[in-house]
Amino acid sequence: MYLCSLLVLSCAISAWSIAPKGPWDALIYAPETRTVRPRAIREVKGNVSSSSALLTGGSAALMSNGSWLTLDFGIEVGGLISMNFDVVTSSSAVALSFTESPLFINPLTSDDSAMSASNMSYDGVLHVPPPISLGFWTQPSVMMRGGFRFLTIVSNSDAPVAFSNVTCALSFMPQMEDLRDYTGYFYALDPEFYDVDFLTKIWYSGAYTVQTDTVPVNTGRQVPFVSSPGWANNATLGVAGPIIVDGAKRDRAVWPGDMGIAVPTQFVSTNDLVATKNALSTMFAGMNPETGALPESGPPLSQQGSDTYHAWTLIGTYNYYLYSGDLAWLTNVWANYTKAVQFLERKVDSSGLLNVTGLRDWGRLGQGGHNAEANALLYKVWTNSISLAGPFSDFALASAWSRNASALKERFNEVFWLPSRGLYRDNDTTTLCPQDANSLAVIFNLTTSNTQAAAVSQGLAQNWNDLGPIAPELPDTISPFISGFELQAHFESGNDTRAMDLLRREWGYMLYSNLSVQSTLLEGFTANGSLYYRSYQGYNYDPSYTSHAHGWSTGPTSALTFYVLGLTVTSPQGATWSVAPHLSGLSSAEGGFETLLGWFGVKWSVSGSTFNLSLETPAGTRGVVSLPTTGTVFVNKEQIETQPEMALELMGGSYVISVRD
Ligand SMILES: *[C@@H]1O[C@H](CO)[C@@H](O)[C@H](O)[C@H]1NC(C)=O
Ligand SMILES: *[C@@H]1O[C@H](CO)[C@@H](O)[C@H](O)[C@H]1NC(C)=O
Ligand SMILES: *[C@@H]1O[C@H](CO)[C@@H](O)[C@H](O)[C@H]1NC(C)=O
Ligand SMILES: *[C@@H]1O[C@H](CO)[C@@H](O)[C@H](O)[C@H]1NC(C)=O
Ligand SMILES: *[C@@H]1O[C@H](CO)[C@@H](O)[C@H](O)[C@H]1NC(C)=O
Ligand SMILES: *[C@@H]1O[C@H](CO)[C@@H](O)[C@H](O)[C@H]1NC(C)=O
Ligand SMILES: *[C@@H]1O[C@H](CO)[C@@H](O)[C@H](O)[C@H]1NC(C)=O
Ligand SMILES: *[C@@H]1O[C@H](CO)[C@@H](O)[C@H](O)[C@H]1NC(C)=O
Ligand SMILES: *[C@@H]1O[C@H](CO)[C@@H](O)[C@H](O)[C@H]1NC(C)=O
Ligand SMILES: *[C@@H]1O[C@H](CO)[C@@H](O)[C@H](O)[C@H]1NC(C)=O
Ligand SMILES: *[C@@H]1O[C@H](CO)[C@@H](O)[C@H](O)[C@H]1NC(C)=O
Ligand SMILES: *[C@@H]1O[C@H](CO)[C@@H](O)[C@H](O)[C@H]1NC(C)=O
Repeated sequence: MYLCSLLVLSCAISAWSIAPKGPWDALIYAPETRTVRPRAIREVKGNVSSSSALLTGGSAALMSNGSWLTLDFGIEVGGLISMNFDVVTSSSAVALSFTESPLFINPLTSDDSAMSASNMSYDGVLHVPPPISLGFWTQPSVMMRGGFRFLTIVSNSDAPVAFSNVTCALSFMPQMEDLRDYTGYFYALDPEFYDVDFLTKIWYSGAYTVQTDTVPVNTGRQVPFVSSPGWANNATLGVAGPIIVDGAKRDRAVWPGDMGIAVPTQFVSTNDLVATKNALSTMFAGMNPETGALPESGPPLSQQGSDTYHAWTLIGTYNYYLYSGDLAWLTNVWANYTKAVQFLERKVDSSGLLNVTGLRDWGRLGQGGHNAEANALLYKVWTNSISLAGPFSDFALASAWSRNASALKERFNEVFWLPSRGLYRDNDTTTLCPQDANSLAVIFNLTTSNTQAAAVSQGLAQNWNDLGPIAPELPDTISPFISGFELQAHFESGNDTRAMDLLRREWGYMLYSNLSVQSTLLEGFTANGSLYYRSYQGYNYDPSYTSHAHGWSTGPTSALTFYVLGLTVTSPQGATWSVAPHLSGLSSAEGGFETLLGWFGVKWSVSGSTFNLSLETPAGTRGVVSLPTTGTVFVNKEQIETQPEMALELMGGSYVISVRD
């Protein structure tokens, strides 16, 4: 249940409807309580007595200098460690070190979060120096650790030290008392994968990842970065909290590009959009009053100079309004929104394309000039803006945007399409065909036919190895962020088989790999599966810096809801909606989500040549159901006349639909 003081509306909503209970509940990663305890002892070195007693309420003792033990919380966690010191002398001293990946368990240093460094030991440890008082101890909040799974406790003196009751008070998602109290759910068995629960698990893994990235406003990474060794998570992240950031361990800052994937995850799982509102408000408040440029990231990082992330704040505005219907907020930012659209429009030159001069982006190489990804984003900004102008009755602006969008789509295809490759190229002077622009072109409808979209889907698959697509625009790298868009592109182009193949390869690796936390999702990895993500591009060959809980990697959560289940909202809060299941080789799927209008639920199954769908949407809404099979259609047991491929238009309510051969 939500804490009512923070969000009165959500409180009222969650009082009358939350996701139904079922076998999916056993697959939720989020823990049952906000204070969690280690689930296992991972490692013990030196002279340590009764370490396993720590798991059963007892006390463990480090008997000599340098002796240590590593506790495993079983899942990604983040917050403040507490414990009880039971035996100490005046010279007792310990140190705590933290890591997400078990590869970096080390009594002398944590994995890196404050800054990357090739020695993999920028952060160091949290010292608990003498004298240590007997009894309850809590880690100083400045040194809160935002994301880790393993905690190592080492003795720094020859005097024995005994302790018990090690806990972590989770700091993320502060507005949710019960982290498992989701407003949405998803459930489907995957007979083609070695774990039949994979699809459901990956849905909840994405949900939990975004929860770990929803943080109190005063727990950002300190900038300038604290000097080594050390870390500090007490910076202010924006205009209000809670606020959505990129990653649990780091950067712990608002990044609007990341939100392009993380916010749809948030919508279908917790529908707790206040953190998104606060993040977007922070970006608009940071607008350059002269130029209308938006920052690339939130404070204290406040990076400037990214045309693509500028566009993502505008796309995020559309998504937030679509999910929330928060017209008061939209009205408040509208002047800044339109000014920010103009900022991009001024970069469109005589070629009819945007010339990127704010070069920062998601990590790719070669940004700049007539870049296809940036132009795809501008197209999406314009098409979104047409509908956002509706409530303001600004028809002249909307029709100008509409003309702009049509003209750009034409130019985009003229300049970037390489028929010989069946793909779009990166800019007007290259033959490199990037993963990002091609994926976005399909999902933003820059393609001009189904055949063209199918060609892009096929072309993108040429980049795959066993673990996923190697991005041509960032060699040797598999980016779960961009792959989240590619996943949608395969569904959108109509090749569900290929979409499911990508999902199983890439996210199957991420969820089960013992290099990671097996609960939340990695920021990225290299072509051979290593953690040296972006080593040569900003991360100083420091694999311990890579985040294991990045919201931008949660693409499957919304894709399973929006495509496999087929349930989407097409106007604010779902006043209009669409149901278009993608069977994807599965025999059934069920799930749903909630908006301020109420519960939206879908269950479908295929048995022989019969397709069954039950559907529940709030009264007063209306929507369109597109059936994935053809045959005689029955709605609530009554046969209805329909043409093959024709969509059913329905008012909100409960329906049982079946299609029989
Ligand atoms: C561990 O420490 C205890 C207490 O100091 C000592 O009695 C014992 O011999 C030590 N064990 C080892 C293996 O060093
Ligand atoms: C503990 O061991 C470390 C590393 O061997 C050493 O630097 C330190 O002085 C020792 N501390 C004490 C109190 O013996
Ligand atoms: C054990 O830790 C919990 C949570 O941090 C705390 O509430 C409790 O008081 C502690 N128990 C004792 C006996 O100190
Ligand atoms: C690791 O590298 C960082 C950055 O160069 C440096 O500040 C730090 O002192 C180094 N740490 C160790 C333990 O060498
Ligand atoms: C964060 O903590 C550091 C170290 O205690 C302190 O110097 C700094 O002023 C704090 N910053 C904020 C924003 O509170
Ligand atoms: C709009 O942008 C200005 C800077 O140009 C900023 O001061 C103001 O807070 C912003 N307004 C909103 C509602 O974000
Ligand atoms: C065009 O794309 C290529 C391949 O990504 C890149 O190397 C080049 O720098 C780009 N051109 C500009 C002007 O950015
Ligand atoms: C984009 O603008 C920059 C800065 O004005 C200019 O140097 C560059 O030539 C332009 N690129 C293209 C492809 O027109
Ligand atoms: C797009 O539409 C706007 C109206 O907002 C118009 O002022 C502008 O010139 C158009 N921009 C381009 C590049 O076509
Ligand atoms: C995609 O664009 C085509 C025109 O190229 C248009 O006919 C179609 O309606 C668009 N689809 C959507 C979903 O907007
Ligand atoms: C869909 O993708 C698969 C490869 O995953 C391919 O074999 C198949 O031909 C594609 N189907 C269509 C209709 O393009
Ligand atoms: C991961 O599993 C492999 C294969 O079972 C094993 O060799 C390796 O030691 C494991 N790595 C970690 C960090 O647990």
